[in-house]
Amino acid sequence: MTTAKDVVYTVQPGGKLTGRARVPGDKSISHRSIMLGALAEGVTEVSGFLEAEDCLCTMAAFRAMGVRIDGPEQGRVVVHGVGLRGLKAPSQPLYLGNSGTSMRLLSGLLSGQAFDVDMTGDASLSKRPMKRVTQPLRLMGADLTTTTAGTPPMHIKGGRQLRGMNYTMPMASAQVKSSLLLAGLYANGKTCVTEPAPTRDHTERMLQGFGYTVERHDNTVCIEGGGVLRGGKIDVPADISSAAFFMVGASIAAGSDLTLEHVGINPTRIGVINILRAMGANITLQNEQVVGGEPVADIRVRAAPLRGIAIPPDQVPLAIDEFPVLFIAAACAHGTTVLTGAEELRVKESDRIQSMAEGMLKLGIDAKPTADGMIIRGGQLSGGVVNSYGDHRIAMAFSMAALRSSAPIVIHDCANVTTSFPAFVPLARGAGLSVTTRDIAR
Ligand code: S3P
Repeated sequence: MTTAKDVVYTVQPGGKLTGRARVPGDKSISHRSIMLGALAEGVTEVSGFLEAEDCLCTMAAFRAMGVRIDGPEQGRVVVHGVGLRGLKAPSQPLYLGNSGTSMRLLSGLLSGQAFDVDMTGDASLSKRPMKRVTQPLRLMGADLTTTTAGTPPMHIKGGRQLRGMNYTMPMASAQVKSSLLLAGLYANGKTCVTEPAPTRDHTERMLQGFGYTVERHDNTVCIEGGGVLRGGKIDVPADISSAAFFMVGASIAAGSDLTLEHVGINPTRIGVINILRAMGANITLQNEQVVGGEPVADIRVRAAPLRGIAIPPDQVPLAIDEFPVLFIAAACAHGTTVLTGAEELRVKESDRIQSMAEGMLKLGIDAKPTADGMIIRGGQLSGGVVNSYGDHRIAMAFSMAALRSSAPIVIHDCANVTTSFPAFVPLARGAGLSVTTRDIAR
C-alpha cells in the first residue's frame, strides 16, 4: 500500500448486532449507472448511488470525457447523456484508483471510441490481470496495450471499427462479460458471450432498462451494435456485498437480531445467503419487491449456531466478493469448511486466500490455504494484530471477527475501506460493534 498514513481499526471483543441498518448502494450497479447514463440519449437520474472512491473514479473518468454529471448529493446523481458517439478525448490519463471494475468495463467501452485513451490505477490495480479483457477485445479488432505482464497502465487506440464475435469465457467473470458487451455496442453485427457459470447480470438488466435489446439464452448473452440507449431513472439498492459483513456478524454474535434494509437480492448475487443458510444461519427475507429491474428485500438475520460445510462450487461466482467474511463465519462454525474452485480470489484487490489465511492463523484459527480455496477448522478466535493488505473487504471481515474473539483485534492498512463503504465504522458502531479508528504515520 502506498497511502501516506496507515488507518488502523481496533475492535473490542464481544457484543452483538441489533436494530435496522441500510448499507450503502450497490457498487456494481452504481458504476454501470454512470457508464450507461453517459452513453444514453437524455438524462438519467440515479438515487442510492454509492458515494465511494471506486464509483467516484468512474464518475471522474466520464466528466473528463465531457459528460456533465450533477452530484453526488445524498446518493442522487444526474447524468446528462451524450449518446453512444458523444464522448470526447480526455486531456489526461484516466486515473481509476483501486477499481478493477472501472478499468475492465471501460476497456471495452473505450475500444469503440474515435480517440486514444490511457488508463492508470493505484498499486493494487496496477498488479491486476487485464489479459482477460485485452485478449478477447483484440479479437473484436480493438487496439489495446498493457505492460508485458498484461497489467495496467493500459493504452487504447481509437478509430478502430470493432466486429461482433462469439466468445466463450475461460473464467466466470462479470467484468469480462460486461466489457465485451459494452464493446459490442460499437461493433458491426452481433456480440455473444458465453459464461462457464452464471455471473452478476447487472449490465444486461440495465441495458434492457435503457431500452436496448439483449438476447439471453442459457448461459449466452448477445447484443447487436449500433442501437440507442435511452436514459431514465435508476434506484440503486443497498449492496449485498456490504450487507454481507453484517449478515455474518449477526449470525456469529449471540443475541443478535439485525435487519438490513432494501438490499439487492439479484439471483446472481445471493451466494452469501445460500452459503450461510447451508451453514445453519437464520436469515429471512421481508418486503421483497422489484425496483427498476432489480429484486430487493429487507434481510433479517438472527444469531444461530453455524456448522462447517463443503461450499457448493456453483455458489462460488455468486458469492465471489463475500469470501473474506464467509471465512470468518467458517472460523466460528462447528466443524470444517472447505472452499474449492475459487482461484479468482487470488487476483482480487489483494490475494484474498493469502491475506485471510495469514490473518486467521494469527488469530489462532486452523486455516489452510490451497491453490483454489481454503480449509478452515472452526475454533476460538483469539485477539491479535492482522494486516488487511489495503483490501477493503479483508479489513471489514476481520472487524466482524472481533464479535467472537477473546481479546481485541487490531487491523492495519484499512484506508481502502473508503473504496466501497466509507461509512462502515459509524454504521458498524451503530449496530453494536465496538470499533475505533486512528491514523498512524508510516
Ligand atoms: C464485478 C464483478 C466481480 C466482482 C467485482 C465487481 C462487477 O468481478 O468481484 O467486485 O461489477 O462486474 P469478476 O467479474 O472479475 O469476478
